[in-house]
Amino acid sequence: MNPRLLSLAAGVFALLFPLVAQRGPQQPPAPKGPWMDKTLSPDRRADLVLAEMTLDEKISLLHGGPGGFGPPGGPSAAPTRSLGGAGFIPGIARLGIPDLQMADAAVGVTRGASRSRYSTPLPSAVSEASSWDPKLAYEYGALIGRELRDQGFNMSLGGGVNLTREPRNGRLFEYKGEDPILAGRLVGQEMKALQAQGVIGDIKHYALNDQETGRNIGNVILDKRSMRESDLLAFEIGVQDSGAGAVMCSYNKVNTDWACENSYLLTDVLKKAFGFQGFVLSDWGGTHTTTKAALAGLDIEMPGSNYFGDALKQAVDGGAVPLARINDMVHRILRTEFAVGLFDLPSAPKVVDVFGGLEVAQRVAEQGTVLLKNSSGQLPLSATAMKSIAVIGSHADAGVLSGGGSAQVDPPGGNAVPPPPPPEGAAPGRGGFGGGRGPVYYPSSPLKAIRAKAPNAKVEYNAGTDPAAAAALAKVSDVAIVFVNQPTSEGRDVDSLSLPDDQDQLVKSVAAANRHTIVVLETGGPVTMPWIGEVSAAIEAWYPGIRGAEAIANILFGEVNPSAKLPMTFAKAETDLPHPTIAKATPTTQQLATSTPPFVAGGGGRGGGRGAMAPFDIPYPEGLKVGYKWFDAQDKQPLFAFGFGLSYTTYAYSGLTVTPGPQPKVSFTVKNTGKRAGAEIAEVYAELPPAAAEPPKRLVAWDKVQLAPGESKTVSLTLEPKFLSIFNVEKDAWDLVPGDYKVFVGGSSRQTPLIAALRM
Ligand code: BGC
Repeated sequence: MNPRLLSLAAGVFALLFPLVAQRGPQQPPAPKGPWMDKTLSPDRRADLVLAEMTLDEKISLLHGGPGGFGPPGGPSAAPTRSLGGAGFIPGIARLGIPDLQMADAAVGVTRGASRSRYSTPLPSAVSEASSWDPKLAYEYGALIGRELRDQGFNMSLGGGVNLTREPRNGRLFEYKGEDPILAGRLVGQEMKALQAQGVIGDIKHYALNDQETGRNIGNVILDKRSMRESDLLAFEIGVQDSGAGAVMCSYNKVNTDWACENSYLLTDVLKKAFGFQGFVLSDWGGTHTTTKAALAGLDIEMPGSNYFGDALKQAVDGGAVPLARINDMVHRILRTEFAVGLFDLPSAPKVVDVFGGLEVAQRVAEQGTVLLKNSSGQLPLSATAMKSIAVIGSHADAGVLSGGGSAQVDPPGGNAVPPPPPPEGAAPGRGGFGGGRGPVYYPSSPLKAIRAKAPNAKVEYNAGTDPAAAAALAKVSDVAIVFVNQPTSEGRDVDSLSLPDDQDQLVKSVAAANRHTIVVLETGGPVTMPWIGEVSAAIEAWYPGIRGAEAIANILFGEVNPSAKLPMTFAKAETDLPHPTIAKATPTTQQLATSTPPFVAGGGGRGGGRGAMAPFDIPYPEGLKVGYKWFDAQDKQPLFAFGFGLSYTTYAYSGLTVTPGPQPKVSFTVKNTGKRAGAEIAEVYAELPPAAAEPPKRLVAWDKVQLAPGESKTVSLTLEPKFLSIFNVEKDAWDLVPGDYKVFVGGSSRQTPLIAALRM
């Protein structure tokens, strides 16, 4: 060949080769086959693919493949197309079945650092829930969906909706509070938004995984009526509002059967009663059997193939699991992939919209931060009047706290408060608390944000480690803003509802030195506040995400008028809770002496030394009385009630009318009686007739009303009959109990100035 042509060919080859090498394993050929006809229904398309599949191919879709976290014991070394998310199931190129690339994404897309990917660290889900705003929940889900898709993932592992039965639960920051209707409505919007981006949504952890302590061995005991009316209702609403493609079953047992092999939960309730058409995947390492789990309704084992690989094939060959059940599992997966668009939307990775993400993150933090106390108009602060401000504690000079575990979004640029190096030989951790890594702070500095708001004031920082030094600074400042926190993480619950590290003492010392003391809380859930009577203002900012500092400063200085309300009760003391202490395993002396690894009563790890622990019960005899329903029924005064949250303006409620009928209508007026524009979350509760034997009241509807100063608006809401009903276990159906109902309307579960009768 002519040497010039040769070198040209070599040049072209050199240019092409890297592309070929990169694209080869990543991109399966474009799908073809009659199932690519988009005019057919997802079910029909799934059947057309299913008809072409061998048993081996079917089984290959029913368990995790190489490249997820791998079976407990370490990540798999096998070759993989996995993008490094938490889970991976290889597709089938000959049929155009896409790889399932799953990423944990409860509060943003996780595990980015290992591949130099950026994702927006959103405020915690409990912050989203505090907005009570379905539109904001949609935006939250849309952002996560977009960022998953931009990074090549097509399935999310987010959407946690376990109710706050246990306020010390280390994962509350991933969940949406204690009320099933609020949590269910919000998760429904989030999943709907996510799936509109062509990403499969997953709601978890089904069900009753309400504490991390012993999550791999605990047996939750709860009656069916309470389950259906509370914990499972959140899933029911979420699944039905969104058509979510996946539900993750949880680690724990429920009424003696593991959640992932519990035919009542998976088949009778989720698939039959709720009409769920998607697939059930196990939590990571949460599968315990082959035949029992398959027959109970589990569709996918994650992250490995201990039970749903060869063992499942043998169970089919031996007749223990009918082929019809395997076909049902595969059909559920394929019909979801068609319904959500995985076959039709080509993967189009791109750089995530960083700036758009920051804007959403800030808005969620602003809408989710709850003003708990504001004596004598302490807040908002006036930037011009302020000469000196003390900013104290919680690393407020460097960043804001985030929640740990599999939901942890990697901080851009690394942890703003690097922990001491892990002990030599420690296993690499995932998330905030594993392998010796401390809690993660996002680089959003409240100190800087406050300085930016008050450029003429002297704004000084004190770490808060020495209460006397902090008090000395507070004494010479116009106001003292004390940041306090409660780090929480998957895999462990908090020891108590008290703030750790003597922070209560810090607040008390500062408050004693300066009567203008404002407390900003960064917690995953409720804490006790023995100092609340001594401070002039308090705000609950939760884990406020990558723009947390800016959001907090906007609230402190009044650029944003707070409107959030608590999605869970804050108790005055643990003795007021249905469970003053967390249920734990009690090891026998024999177990203590012989167990290897050593017995850990709290063990919440993934595989977690399961064999070494004695199973134990987590009874919930309080049944229907979750959160405010318990406090109302016991007539106990909480520290802050469910649905409570202040504003810089005030609202008045009037003119309640209730129109009876199969779908009762409620209408009332809310007026902004103050001087600032604001948004009021107006809450509607119902009391059922005595024959229903229910707790005093339940949330049945709400609306968020934007009001200019002096403005009034009429709110009209329809009450869903199911939300007024009870679950009749004998009939296995919802029942509307005839009789006299009461409707309460107001700004919190404990402040309902309007009351009207409703006869049903
Ligand atoms: C968590 C799940 C998570 C999974 C994969 C489990 O330990 O409980 O919420 O999706 O790991 O990371």
